[in-house]
Amino acid sequence: MAVLDPTSPEVPATSGARPGEGSVVGGKYRLRGLLGRGGVGSVFEAERIADGELFALKRLDRATTKDHVAVSRFAREVRAANAARSEHIVRIVDVGTDDGCPFLLMERLHGEDLGARLQRSGRIPPHEAVEIVRQILSGLQGAHVSGVVHRDLKPDNIFLAERIGSPSCVKILDFGMSKIQPPGTTIPLALTRSGVAVGTPLYMSPEQAAARSDVDARSDLYSVGAILFECVTGRPPHVGETSETVLHSIRTRRAPRVREVVPGLASSLAEVIDRALAMDRTARFRSANEMMRALVASTADLDGRAGRSARRTLWLAGVSSVAVGAMIAVAAASWLRARPLTGGSSATPVGQAR
Ligand SMILES: Nc1ncnc2c1ncn2[C@@H]1O[C@H](COP(=O)(O)OP(=O)(O)O)[C@@H](O)[C@H]1O
Ligand SMILES: [Mg+2]
Repeated sequence: MAVLDPTSPEVPATSGARPGEGSVVGGKYRLRGLLGRGGVGSVFEAERIADGELFALKRLDRATTKDHVAVSRFAREVRAANAARSEHIVRIVDVGTDDGCPFLLMERLHGEDLGARLQRSGRIPPHEAVEIVRQILSGLQGAHVSGVVHRDLKPDNIFLAERIGSPSCVKILDFGMSKIQPPGTTIPLALTRSGVAVGTPLYMSPEQAAARSDVDARSDLYSVGAILFECVTGRPPHVGETSETVLHSIRTRRAPRVREVVPGLASSLAEVIDRALAMDRTARFRSANEMMRALVASTADLDGRAGRSARRTLWLAGVSSVAVGAMIAVAAASWLRARPLTGGSSATPVGQAR
């Protein structure tokens, strides 16, 4: 992705004390260019001074450090992203504070976010959209089984990362709105200001739009459905002049059937999108895995080659998750055997509660 010019009007200054290019954060990282700006902070390219390795550093703006909601969003982002280990979730490698402002260090991704891609190309060919969403669902499955619900899935939080010599890899960003819940329970819709959810409402589920207190993994699957709807049609399912009209439409009206917008879309893919966007969450897919299977099955109708490749990837993903599970079980057994009974000190993993 291009490095933005911090002085451009697209990058509004929120604090005079914001560090810029060249400044050193946490005594270890030198900031280079600005990669992106969100509501509460900035993402910079950063060089680790010790070895010159490049990362992406997200830092909370000084003005926002007084906002307890924003600070706790930041802390939960690290815990949530690390709990859900998946190559489709951006890796966080360090956390710290600099001059009172929390920061986190991520793997540096190259490419563009899906929001930029949609702005550039309008629609995305169905077989490519399916592959992007398949990878989002693979990352989400890891998050959901770890008890993490993202709650802010939207094109800007999906990164299409290019890799030299291998196919591009989709990464979910920004677990700042997420909540960690014990598996099998529902969670309160926290981190909202006066009952109004933060951020764009375009991809919110009906239960989020209604500020219900028990939003769960099925809400993320609705948001994925809304993202896929936009990829294949060029517009989100619910649109409106203001946030309030969008929220009202999501709460009260069913999303249009995707074939009303793109009549020629393969019916099996349309069925997956329509089911993900059901207002009643019990009518949606029950898990990211279930939605992924239906999506991959739908590719048979799209284009033979893309469909075969997606199905092969799903089969390989299944085989490798069984293999990884077996490796973890063997490693855990040998660790338990080797572990001294008296315990001992252990390093706190990055992002865990300190
Ligand atoms: N690891 C990364 N590598 C490259 N660019 C990134 C990275 N993380 C975020 N960005 C860019 O910065 C933007 C904002 O990042 P995000 O984590 O979503 O922050 P916010 O919480 O402010 O929305 C993203 O949409 C993306 O374009
Ligand atoms: Mg974001």
